Amino acid sequence: MSQIDWDSLGFDAYRTRTVVLSRFQNGQWSPAETTETFSFTLDPFAQVFHYAISCFEGLKAFTQKDGRIVIFRPDENAARMQRTARYLGMPEPPADLFIRMCELCVKNNLEFLPPYGHGASMYLRPLLMGVHPQMQLVPYPEAVLAVMCAPAGSYYGAHLKSSSAVIPGDYDRAAPKGSGSYKVGANYAATFKPYKIAHDQGYTELLYLNSGTREFVDEFGSSNFFGIKGNKYVTPLSDSVLPSITNKSLQQVAADLGMEVEKRPIPVEELAEFDEAGACGTAVVITPMSHIDLKPVLAGEEVACTWRFVPDGSVGPVCTKLYRQITGIQFGELEDVHGWCHEVR
Ligand SMILES: Cc1ncc(COP(=O)(O)O)c(C=O)c1O
Repeated sequence: MSQIDWDSLGFDAYRTRTVVLSRFQNGQWSPAETTETFSFTLDPFAQVFHYAISCFEGLKAFTQKDGRIVIFRPDENAARMQRTARYLGMPEPPADLFIRMCELCVKNNLEFLPPYGHGASMYLRPLLMGVHPQMQLVPYPEAVLAVMCAPAGSYYGAHLKSSSAVIPGDYDRAAPKGSGSYKVGANYAATFKPYKIAHDQGYTELLYLNSGTREFVDEFGSSNFFGIKGNKYVTPLSDSVLPSITNKSLQQVAADLGMEVEKRPIPVEELAEFDEAGACGTAVVITPMSHIDLKPVLAGEEVACTWRFVPDGSVGPVCTKLYRQITGIQFGELEDVHGWCHEVR
């Protein structure tokens, strides 16, 4: 195998050694199997191709300081995939199968698991697809669950460095009472074009408002939003944002550090009141925002408002503290008081 440079990993699709598979057919899940074939053979009429009947998860495995290998909160990802599967009318993978497949994926791709000391981890990507060939818009109890992995460094190319975001006035992520809080692949399709426009303008992230009234902050295209106001960690309460497991963990970490935690609607004007603001998620971990612009037309020239938090590239003290705390737990440098790290044996 070619040498992997653990210090310069980004966040990319990767060809590792094995994929782990299980199929739901005739009312049951097949035993997890590993394959070295990196391709699926599916009927061209399979639901996934036409009607986007697919959902996924993202979680990470770490080599800890003492050499133990752990997966961060896989029970939470299993429960979230079950919730999304119910929304799509798909069979729900049992939590023990989901976790076993993640463990198998780590164990069968150990040479791609970054060693301790590089700030890198192994990203696990469970994917659930509706594979039944059909035209009707009705659920069908047949699915494939696959777990892939990739060695991962930083999502944005550098660990803990601030980025910028733009609020697009003419794009929404999710409809009110729609699929926003579920991890369905189709939610991400709607972000590809605005991401391209935003990236071409030098922004790293898109920050979406609630699509119903456009008064409140919802979330970034890839992650949840949080703001720091004095000793408070504030994050949106909205039924169209993905319930982030990182955000849930950070709320606990913030409380453990003696901060007050508020989960409530955040009016967009309140951005002016935050000392620090950032994105959080498995892939982005914590990515502080230097500034957020509001553009009525994303591709246009006009910037209606700019909110500044920290100078470009720098990081505020609270984001630094939260980052150190959560990554410290993940890498086994700090005590895992809540039992979040699931050991792979
Ligand atoms: C839209 C969106 N929001 C939030 C998150 C963060 O969720 P988590 O912390 O569970 O990775 C993700 C990434 O998974 C995401 O894609």
